[in-house]
Formats: sequence, structure tokens, C-alpha cells
Amino acid sequence: MIKGQFPASKFNSLETPFYYYDIDLLRKTLDTIKTEIRNKDYHIHYAVKANANPRLLKEIAAYGFGADCVSGNEILRAIDCGFPASKIAFAGVGKTDREIEIGLDNDIFCFNVESLPEMQAIEALAAKKSKTARIALRINPNVDAHTHKYITTGLNENKFGLNEADLPQALELIARSAHLEIIGMHFHIGSQITDLSAFENLCVKAFELRNWFHSQGVKLQHINVGGGLGINYQHPNHCPTADFESYFRLFGKYLKTEEGQSLHFELGRSVVAPCGSLITRTTYVKEGISKKFLIVDAGMTELIRPALYQAFHHIENISSDKELTAYDVVGPICESSDVFAKDMKLNEAQRGDLIAIRSAGAYGEVMASQYNCRELPKAYFSDQI
Ligand code: LLP
Repeated sequence: MIKGQFPASKFNSLETPFYYYDIDLLRKTLDTIKTEIRNKDYHIHYAVKANANPRLLKEIAAYGFGADCVSGNEILRAIDCGFPASKIAFAGVGKTDREIEIGLDNDIFCFNVESLPEMQAIEALAAKKSKTARIALRINPNVDAHTHKYITTGLNENKFGLNEADLPQALELIARSAHLEIIGMHFHIGSQITDLSAFENLCVKAFELRNWFHSQGVKLQHINVGGGLGINYQHPNHCPTADFESYFRLFGKYLKTEEGQSLHFELGRSVVAPCGSLITRTTYVKEGISKKFLIVDAGMTELIRPALYQAFHHIENISSDKELTAYDVVGPICESSDVFAKDMKLNEAQRGDLIAIRSAGAYGEVMASQYNCRELPKAYFSDQI
């Protein structure tokens, strides 16, 4: 049986749970991004943290995009999968010496520096290697992204980035050093942002700061506005790609760059979330007192987003076209938060039915754990099965 876009009959012989990636949809998304930024001095660094599956990384690298990494191992993985080091940006509040050395040894595009002590560490390590580290200052813009508090990053109370008050001292340090070159400024206000006005506020702030740098005699080669564009988790079939058109248009309108200054973006979720589904099998249908439980063989170990952020994922029974019935879809993990959805209407299910948890391509496989001694999920690709 082929239901919707899933070759359920091919899935039958595969051990569940597993991740299934629709490569056509990924390419369509990448094509859309490429079209939207053509003729503009816009550069994409795909946020590897969203999904570091090597096959997907190779697909994305083949489009000529760069990478946004948050660990030394992400840098190594990205390079391994074809991203040129010259297009790798490296962010993170806790870069260790080893990770900074990985960045220096590979001559990455830029370190997004998040504190003065980190800047001093980069300077010392670069000096030891007689190198110059290219840096961008990650500035906390105190802009509210209106998203879940765990994925809000640009408020004063968040741990990320330098505060504006640190900037004069940062510039002094850079001016005194022969091993630091400032090439840009960087922001990231949060993730799963669907109210685009948050980006408008970011543009206003970035513009103001750009002018401040200018007044200090510092001309920035680039402004990196981070990632954060949200997707439609409710209707994955009707809205399979994020609204890249409005997103890029907004930056074009509200963030005028200077001559020779480029805009950089670190998109993660919007690139990979829609193309991935977590495929799981119904272990039991259990009648509760006031509800039915659909107990599946995937749990928060394979997709933690509902448990951690109360995130919504659309769910489909791809083995049934019986009447719609409301279920609480739950996993087998010994935690009450191991719930994928409450009162989700699915085609009536029976033991063995395959269930697709949609829009799981971002922050799914990468966040999997082995809690309860479970195995990490396998991945399959639409063009390989
Ligand atoms: N740049 C920086 C500096 C980031 O911290 C992030 C995400 C991105 C770019 C990519 O943002 P995106 O385009 O994917 O929104 N695990 C959470 C999301 C955590 C996001 C962390 N930072 C979730 O499942 O919702």
C-alpha cells in the first residue's frame, strides 16, 4: 500500500523505528533557497546541529552552501562531507582549546566569538600558531523571538553572545592584537520563529550596530543574522517548505548593507525538518479509562522534541485508511513525558500498523539517545529503498 508520500509496503520489511528522508523534498527546498538568494550577496551556512547525517550533509554541500558548526567535531564532519573550510562559521559559548585549534588548523571562514575570555583564548592559540583568526562578534541583541523559552537565544537573560557594553573593550583587544581580524558581526535570536516581525526587530538592531562599528572606524565585511526560520508543523502536506520568499525579502527590505558587505544566514530547521519522518510501528493499542493509547516502538529517545519543548508533530497512520480515531500516541520509555501527541486523530490502528511522525528531519536524529539501553535509530533515504 502506498499512502500519501510513503512507500509503506517497502517499509514493511525494515526494522522500526527509523528515520526516513525524502531526498526530492530536500532538493526542492535547497533549490528554492538558491533561487531566492540569486543575484544577492547572501550566503548560507547550513546549521549542522539540525541534522548531521552524512548523506544529507553531502546533498547540502553539493549546493555550494557553507556550514555553521558548534563543535570541533561538527567542523570535522562538515569538512568530511564536502563543505569547504573557507565557508565554515564556528559558534558556541564554550569552545575548548582543542576545538579552537581545529578551527585554526583548518583555516575556517570565521569564529563567532561569544565572550571576551573566549576572544583572549582564540588570540593566544592563534599567536602560538603564528596565525590570524578571522572573527565575528556574536552580539546579544535583546530581541524577543516569541518562541519556546528553551529555543530563545537573543535575550539579555540568555547565555549567548557579547553584550553591547562589552563591544568597546572587544574592539580594543582586537586593535591590539596581530592575530585577530574582525570580519563581521553575528546574531541568532532563536529557533522555530514563525512571527517574522522578530526578524524585522533584529534588522533594526543590526543596522544600528553596523553604524556604531562604522563610527568606530570598523568596516564589517559581513553581517550574519543566524537562523531561526520556522516551518509549519501542523500541515506538512500543504506547506512542505518554509516561507523563504518572505524571509529573504524581509532582510532585503529592512537590512540595507553597505557596499561590499554581505549577509550571511545560518538556516537549519527550515532546510531539513520537512524532509524527515520518524517511522515507527504500533506495538499495542491500549484502551484507557477515558482514552485510547497508541503505543509505538519509537520514543523520546528517537525524537525528544515533544517531551522537551511540548512540540507538535503531525502524525499519520500509513497502514490504515479506516475511520479517524483519537489516540494519545506514546512511546515505550519509562518517563511520563514520553508522549508524541495527545488526542491525535489517526486512521484506526491495530498492532503492527506503521506510523509516520512528520517534520522530524531537524533536531530529531541528532538528539537521539540511548536511554533505556536503546539502539540509535537507522536512517533510510527515498532514493535508496
Ligand atoms: N545559528 C545558531 C547560532 C544557532 O544556535 C542555531 C540553532 C541555528 C543557527 C539554527 O537555527 P534554526 O534555523 O535551526 O532555527 N533543538 C531545538 C532547536 C535548537 C536550536 C539551537 N540553535 C528544537 O528542536 O526545536
